[in-house]
Amino acid sequence: MALVALGVTGGIGAYKAVEIARGLQKRGHDVVAIMSHGALKFVGEVTFEAITKRRVITDQYAPGANADIEHISLATDIGLLLVAPATANVIGKFAHGIADDFLTSLYLATRAPVLMAPAMNTNMLEHDAVSRNLATLTARGVRFVDPGQGYLACGWVGKGRLAEPDDVVEAAHHMLQPSGSLLGRMVLVTAGPTYEDIDAVRYIGNRSSGKMGYAIAAEAARRGARVVLVSGPSSLPAPPGVELIRVRGAHNMHAEVMRHAAEAHMIIMAAAVADYRPAARASGKIEKSDAPLELALVRTPDILADLGRARTGRSSPLLIGFAAEVGDPVARARVKLRLKQVDMIVANDVSRPDAGFDLDINAVTLVTRDGEEALPVAAKTAVAAVILDRTERLLAAV
Ligand code: PMT
Repeated sequence: MALVALGVTGGIGAYKAVEIARGLQKRGHDVVAIMSHGALKFVGEVTFEAITKRRVITDQYAPGANADIEHISLATDIGLLLVAPATANVIGKFAHGIADDFLTSLYLATRAPVLMAPAMNTNMLEHDAVSRNLATLTARGVRFVDPGQGYLACGWVGKGRLAEPDDVVEAAHHMLQPSGSLLGRMVLVTAGPTYEDIDAVRYIGNRSSGKMGYAIAAEAARRGARVVLVSGPSSLPAPPGVELIRVRGAHNMHAEVMRHAAEAHMIIMAAAVADYRPAARASGKIEKSDAPLELALVRTPDILADLGRARTGRSSPLLIGFAAEVGDPVARARVKLRLKQVDMIVANDVSRPDAGFDLDINAVTLVTRDGEEALPVAAKTAVAAVILDRTERLLAAV
């Protein structure tokens, strides 16, 4: 089992880091806690010392810790650097390579994977500076456990509270224990709706919640795959161990999917991508009047069809599409299978009350060149598992 460096920085969620340390130990890992000066204002180092049975690191230059330059020696010993809670401050320092204390120096010195669980006020989380720093770190391979929604210590209600300790432990354990049938594979998943802006306040969207695609991404990560999830607007948090890229419109989704397609072994398009967008986005807010308003629409790029075309003559990556249909979903899915040149279409009859948009359950039929398989109504998590079982079979045959 591995040694985990648990960086605790100054937020009210610091007390939950004690539970995270315990959870990691229960999974068999050894934990060394590193507390920032801010963290010490919220929790005492003795608490972490008692739990981890190790000296807690609070100072880069503590007497007795300099003979082997502690942050360098620890950097090579750890299997994971986990920061929970991660404040806007430590996120900014990691992003910009500022090394002014033990934890930030350790980040630069280690080659171990890095996992961060951000926690802060909603406005801080959504600030452009923090968003850019998170994007920089994501691009550098740092993984995140998304903060949750709810009451924040500052009295606000919104996104920003530290993720549940069990979810942080699960994500950390997953990064330390790569195993599973998709180990070594890269799976690219799309989820959610796309929003096509009409003007500064209105858009064309659809009822997709992202639940189906997020369930597939979570299951692929549990099976050991490196998972990149490109998601349209959705309120769901990133599944543990998944690299989440948030986009808005079909064009952004197209660009992100194409950017990652070359490294993917399998691409699963569960997103409900808009087929049309307004021909032009009005600059301000369109004023209402009594005259009818006509909106000219143009086609969006068909991402799945472009992937099929780009793959012509090759069998990799495996391409899986969804088809949200009313009427005869299997017949329509078969047409899409051929036209979009893909390996499987998951046909979804969205006219059924027990299937499709925004539900926790789904009922789908898997359509391949060789036949069809109707799955019974089940939780989207269970449907995701069967879809991956079948796609793994197809992957093995490639
Ligand atoms: O998100 P949930 O609330 O959990 O709901 C799940 C779901 C109903 C959205 C999902 O199960 C589903 O059916 N997703 C596909 C919806 C859809 O857009 O179907 P389509 O028949 O319009 O598109 C066919 C395929 O082409 C899809 O894989 C789609 O991602 C892709 N496509 C569509 C249009 C476009 N411009 N580019 C695309 O890549």
